[in-house]
Amino acid sequence: MDAHSRVRYMLHKCNRARREHVASNMLFYKQFLMVKDIIITVLAVLVLFFLWVAVMDTNRFTVSNYVYKDKKIKKKFRAAVLADLHNKKYGRDNDKLYSRIESFSPDMILIAGDMINGHVGEKFEDTVSFLARLAEKYPIYYANGNHEMRMDIYRDNYGDSYDEFCRSIREAGITLLVNDRITLPEYGVTVIGSEINKKHYKRMGIVPMEEGELLAELGAPEKDSCNILLAHNPDFFEDYVSYGAELVFSGHVHGGIARIPFIKKGILSPNARFFPKYYQGEYKKEKTTMIVSRGLGSHTIPIRLFNPGDLVIVDFEGDEQQNETAL
Ligand SMILES: [Fe+2]
Repeated sequence: MDAHSRVRYMLHKCNRARREHVASNMLFYKQFLMVKDIIITVLAVLVLFFLWVAVMDTNRFTVSNYVYKDKKIKKKFRAAVLADLHNKKYGRDNDKLYSRIESFSPDMILIAGDMINGHVGEKFEDTVSFLARLAEKYPIYYANGNHEMRMDIYRDNYGDSYDEFCRSIREAGITLLVNDRITLPEYGVTVIGSEINKKHYKRMGIVPMEEGELLAELGAPEKDSCNILLAHNPDFFEDYVSYGAELVFSGHVHGGIARIPFIKKGILSPNARFFPKYYQGEYKKEKTTMIVSRGLGSHTIPIRLFNPGDLVIVDFEGDEQQNETAL
């Protein structure tokens, strides 16, 4: 091969190598674009799916049924437990929620607080009118949450809204229990409404209760009655156990706002704590059972994800087995 041919051969080899290199780069770039497209599509589908679930879950509720047995209960009865409605409406005038409650024919309604929003300028008339409609048919026992309490404490901001709220509630025939109780001898139960100090609603952490704090605020539980404590904040379960309530109804945590599917652990509490210990369902210790409602509405973070609203229905029964043993 002469020199000229050698140069031509070398040039040809170089060109082929360059073409192969360019082709290889093109292939890599095409594969990169394809993977990128797949990732973007998957992410977009996931975001749309999460948004769809959030819209659905923010606007629907499910029913949680419980049976509670206690030998002190004299007569079977059923209670619907409402918490954390936060002025939410399920249908016009809350008709969907009303009909669902009606379908269970409860003997009473127990409220564990935060039915309204304690936000300056926000009205509560629609919620009060919904509750008044329920009160025409069922006895209602109402304990405050932090939102009702806020209107009472910060009167410089809220004016006389709290007094107006209490007046409307009482005029509707609803029994408001602010560190107060009512004994229902027919059923053998006492309903106690707890309103704890505002320091216990601190953001980011829990300010523990002092020993005997609940006892000082509420007085001792009834000895011959099943004590049902309406206590908005479930963080203080240990204190409710020490207090000696047989059954506690709480809310406040909104089921953790978003729940992890399958594990169903609540992610965030309204006072900005991750993975709150008590966020939904039933908890038991010693002789105390606490049922935590996921609530029915939302406020500052106005979404619920994998966490629809919660209508709690509880059937109360005397412990017939124990009664038989006693006989
Ligand atoms: Fe709430």
